[in-house]
Amino acid sequence: MSTLAQMFPPAPTFTEKSLTDLFSKVYIITGATAGVGLELAKILYSLNATVYIGGRSLTRCNEGFQAIQSAHPTSKGTLKPFIADLSDLKTIKSAVESFLNEEHRLDVLFLNAGVMLPPEGSKTKDGYNMEIGVNCLSSFLLVNLLTPIMAFTSSHFCHPNPSIRIVWVSSCLDMGTPKGGVQFPSSTPLSPSKCNPPFSSSRTTSSTAPLSSTLTSFRSPTEPSDAPKQLKGMAQYMQSKSGAYLLAHEFSARTSKNAHGNGIMHVSLHPGFMKTELQRHIPAPARAMMGTVFKGPKYGAYTELYAGLAPDVEDGAFYWPWGRKGAVPAHIIESTENGEDGRSVSSRFYEWCEEQVKLFM
Ligand SMILES: NC(=O)c1ccc[n+]([C@@H]2O[C@H](COP(=O)([O-])OP(=O)(O)OC[C@H]3O[C@@H](n4cnc5c(N)ncnc54)[C@H](OP(=O)(O)O)[C@@H]3O)[C@@H](O)[C@H]2O)c1
Repeated sequence: MSTLAQMFPPAPTFTEKSLTDLFSKVYIITGATAGVGLELAKILYSLNATVYIGGRSLTRCNEGFQAIQSAHPTSKGTLKPFIADLSDLKTIKSAVESFLNEEHRLDVLFLNAGVMLPPEGSKTKDGYNMEIGVNCLSSFLLVNLLTPIMAFTSSHFCHPNPSIRIVWVSSCLDMGTPKGGVQFPSSTPLSPSKCNPPFSSSRTTSSTAPLSSTLTSFRSPTEPSDAPKQLKGMAQYMQSKSGAYLLAHEFSARTSKNAHGNGIMHVSLHPGFMKTELQRHIPAPARAMMGTVFKGPKYGAYTELYAGLAPDVEDGAFYWPWGRKGAVPAHIIESTENGEDGRSVSSRFYEWCEEQVKLFM
């Protein structure tokens, strides 16, 4: 039922016609050189906003600029490149630094870029599974690096504050999602006290080293053994997309625990089923079948526009195509609740991501 409701949504009600001038506003859209991100950029630019076009190279960004400007030649908006290869974490900080050198505000960060079913075994430059790296780790790093300017925007420019948002693009969580969303190996130790005894380790340890130092240096909770499981095919893609939902939940929950908050809302969404380059690695017959049901990318842009700019959006909520509040499967909600070990899957995934991006902050 949930799946059908997402596959055949009612017509979008929040569109470019719902908005007035966005002249003073600043947006970043990752993956804005194609598909849904490109369509979203066209809408925001048509309303005179400053839009940073996320792309992996200046050439890709320039291609995006041309498509956007030719669709809206009279716009008074501004287009700028936000160049980072999201499969290479070290390229992200310099993109953020260039942005911070130019702007004093950031209204909405759209974490839209995504990769699905790359050739089996594809890894990021940092050695992570490609879908987890691009769809989760790069977003986690961007959020951390851009939170200060967004908190500043909220406190200095925006009243009421809920207009400052981070939009996490997930997927249809009712289809092909592994149980719990993100899966960890169950035998992974969570703290040094739960580690295997040091001397049964395959690591070489000095027999003269004090036991305490051996224990703490032995097997930190965030070493590869604490990484999410490597799944196969679509299950791995859906694990990464569930990861985006769980991170949005976790950022929202952690921010609201802070007495003063920071004025930034985190929301996530399923953009809808659209015919785009995302399906580039899917065999042609299946792609042709999808083409009969899937819509154009502008529809997905309406879902993101709703989550990013509609007035009735709620912090931590999940949105369905083409812009309405939606339900999340119970097994994924359970992953946001504490288990027997007093820890939730979402907090474990958040902390794993935090550890991986530390070096790139
Ligand atoms: N289309 C659907 O039916 C559907 C359904 C559910 C969820 N989604 C989600 O919606 C979002 C947008 O998807 P789409 O359909 O618009 O896909 P798309 O047409 O393939 O666009 C994806 C964008 O992400 C960029 N990207 C990919 N890897 C990158 C990297 N390493 N560094 C920088 N940029 C990178 C791409 O740049 P290049 O062009 O340079 O590769 C492109 O601009 C994704 O998060 C996707 O998972 C889509």
